[in-house]
Amino acid sequence: MSITGFDLSFRNLYRFEFPTQFRRKTCNCTAIRSSLSSTSSSSTAVSDSRNADENHVPTSYGRRMMISMIAFLLPLHGSIQSSGANANATDDLLLLQGEIRKVLSKGKAAGVLRLVFHDAGTYEMDEDTGGMNGSISLELDRPENKGLKKSLKILVEAKKIVDETQPVSMADMIAVAGAEAVSLCGGPKIPVQLGRLDSMVPDPEGRLPEETLDALGLKQSFQRKGFSTQELVALSGAHTLGSKGFGNPVIFDNAYYKVLLEKPWLSSAGMTSMVGLPSDRALIEDDECLRWISKYAGDQDLFFEDFKNAYIKLVNSGAKWRRRNS
Ligand code: HEM
Repeated sequence: MSITGFDLSFRNLYRFEFPTQFRRKTCNCTAIRSSLSSTSSSSTAVSDSRNADENHVPTSYGRRMMISMIAFLLPLHGSIQSSGANANATDDLLLLQGEIRKVLSKGKAAGVLRLVFHDAGTYEMDEDTGGMNGSISLELDRPENKGLKKSLKILVEAKKIVDETQPVSMADMIAVAGAEAVSLCGGPKIPVQLGRLDSMVPDPEGRLPEETLDALGLKQSFQRKGFSTQELVALSGAHTLGSKGFGNPVIFDNAYYKVLLEKPWLSSAGMTSMVGLPSDRALIEDDECLRWISKYAGDQDLFFEDFKNAYIKLVNSGAKWRRRNS
């Protein structure tokens, strides 16, 4: 039943309140409350103007009504509670997105997206260690994380503001910021769940794939993190952003795959020989990767859909979650 439906039934019970043990302990149902109070006050105003006595129900009838409505409303209260939790989650996400957008620009998008991989990419399934846990802030001096300090710094600024209203983990900040970076540059809108906990210790070293790996090495590295070859190819499309020469550095599109198919590095002409990392070039030499590269080069919607799903998987890799409503 809709919240409005609940409100109309609720109004008939006028001063009835749920027993304390059924009330949500830490309810912060701002959206639900404002929705309830706005519909409630408007509907009350309408009936009040007609006849104030119409709202008066004789006590015995009122009691009978109340008892029968309790049975009806208690299960409903459960669903209102979960709507309340969803409303909280939506409020929290909007808060994060709002503060991130204030500090993010297209020029900073590539660095922020790279930050996501460098936080989450330490995950290894066998040991179930590493992953999306904000520990990148403790690992910035590692050589593979060179250049990421400035990207993290803007998120630390945004986090301070968010924390004043609703404490948030660094892992959630990074996960949402990466999604915002993608959509700011024209890529897919990616829904990111909140509730990750931060690790207080750095993740084990040597988990991120090196750029000198061949396709087999890259596949194996991603496999250890739970990712298929298709997901490796989809996620590598993130290199369409930034300075590696795949199309416009601030536009998230499928140029990465189109350029890979052209193999511009084979040309001796000027800057084209500089395009791509060795790991990007390695992908196209592998038949299985090539099949996905060709698909994504010919179908940007497919790339967006697969990137979105692989991104969601990446930002949930190894994440430890806070208990609901805590
Ligand atoms: C497949 C294995 C990968 C390797 C070996 C790799 C390695 C690298 C390297 C060496 C750079 C250049 C950094 C610099 O300019 O100093 C880079 C840039 C970048 N990487 Fe990756 N990466 C990989 C996968 C990913 C994934 C999965 C993502 C995100 C989902 C990602 C996002 C980025 C972005 C956005 C940049 C551009 C950063 C900028 O220009 O500021 N990378 N990567």
